[in-house]
Amino acid sequence: MGKISKEISMTQDDPLQNKTWSGRFSVPVSEAVKQYTASVSFDQRLALHDIQGSLAHARMLSEVGILSTQDFSAIESGLTTIADDIQRGTFTWNLDDEDVHLNIEKRLTERIGDAGKRLHTGRSRNDQVATDIRLYLRESIDHICQQLRFLQQALLALAEPHVDTIMPGFTHLQVAQPVSLAHHLMAYVEMFSRDHQRLLEIRHRVNQLPLGAAALAGTSYPLRRERVAELLGFEGVCNNSLDAVSDRDFAIEFCSAAALIMIHLSRLSEELILWMSPRFAFVRIGDAFCTGSSIMPQKRNPDVPELVRGKSGRVTGHLMGLLMLMKAQPLAYNKDNQEDKEPLFDTVDTLTQTLRVYTDMMRDVHINPSAMNQAAREGFSTATDLADYLVKKGTTFRDAHEIVARAVRHAEDLGCDLADLPLTDLQSFSASIENDIYSVLTLEGSVASRHLIGGTAPSRVRAAIARKRLELDRA
Ligand code: ARG
Repeated sequence: MGKISKEISMTQDDPLQNKTWSGRFSVPVSEAVKQYTASVSFDQRLALHDIQGSLAHARMLSEVGILSTQDFSAIESGLTTIADDIQRGTFTWNLDDEDVHLNIEKRLTERIGDAGKRLHTGRSRNDQVATDIRLYLRESIDHICQQLRFLQQALLALAEPHVDTIMPGFTHLQVAQPVSLAHHLMAYVEMFSRDHQRLLEIRHRVNQLPLGAAALAGTSYPLRRERVAELLGFEGVCNNSLDAVSDRDFAIEFCSAAALIMIHLSRLSEELILWMSPRFAFVRIGDAFCTGSSIMPQKRNPDVPELVRGKSGRVTGHLMGLLMLMKAQPLAYNKDNQEDKEPLFDTVDTLTQTLRVYTDMMRDVHINPSAMNQAAREGFSTATDLADYLVKKGTTFRDAHEIVARAVRHAEDLGCDLADLPLTDLQSFSASIENDIYSVLTLEGSVASRHLIGGTAPSRVRAAIARKRLELDRA
């Protein structure tokens, strides 16, 4: 955003002006301590939210008569100019002023004089920073929700033409039963729907106003907290001042939801990586998302999904970091909380970058239906269908299970699929088997038979896609 001035500030010689609390101190902090405690290098990112919060606070102060109208309009125009400077990148951040809040307040006072010094009436940086983070996070959540929708659209677009493409469904990564590729992809669409819901639920708890809590105990000024909440679009005010300035559970919840999104993406990545291996050859990911090897000319590496899988660890780490940050803090605000920002920002950045690249990549995934079909034919994926067939003809499920196990062993010995066994061979395992068995043993027959809600039958999958399309279009 802006650069940090390393120069000694103009007010260095004057201990009373050098620091907001300087009158209490006889020795200035060392350069090392100043650098160690300052947060401006990273919290400047909250600048526009800080100004947004200050504008609402000042407006309310003037409405209740704590600030004169002249002071308010000076503050308003001063802060607007500062916001412009910040957006243009011409604002110089000063390490001596520690954090984003003091940097902006100091610049405001330089510009407009004493009115700037009145802005902080009835407020503390403790409730100020908690407000800023909530404003920032609310905006980030809205952006991420939108991105999740785009990703879901891309997955739907990939699924739609592949309702009838059959692949092996796996359990334990062993061929289990045939499934529709679209059904498989729709499983991820469901996961991302829950991720979206989770974010919306968290948003309500993020969207509460801390201002008015002041340092920790509230304030004796007759502030109108509801008015500030209304001006900032908060749904309510935090009920307890100690809680308002100290807890960061809303950020932890968000990081937990973010980690889950990354974990879902990591699982999909793992599958794409496997599927792209020539052993599977189920998919090809567009060149724009792969890289070559500097030594092996034949290589095409799935770098993007691999990095996503790696970055899921990073985001999960931030969640752990924030939990540990919170765990031993007594009420109320402690400086520990300054450490909430970098993990939170990095979580938002990693997630938004990942979602953007991932959505583009999913639009460039090319399916190899015949490789999928071929793989589904291997590994006796319709064995359960044979067992179910026998049960429908009166055999108990346990007996059927045993009969099929023997038939599978026989086919394995002959090196063929169940569907390739002659009827007489099949009948040697159970007299109830008739010629209609062959339609049951095909992949298409197997898939079509699972037509209950949530099943992989093409009719169900088509309906699931249509329903999800409607849901996404409405959102
Ligand atoms: N930079 C601080 C933070 O990020 C702002 C609040 C500082 N409050 C205090 N009492 N030192 O948490």
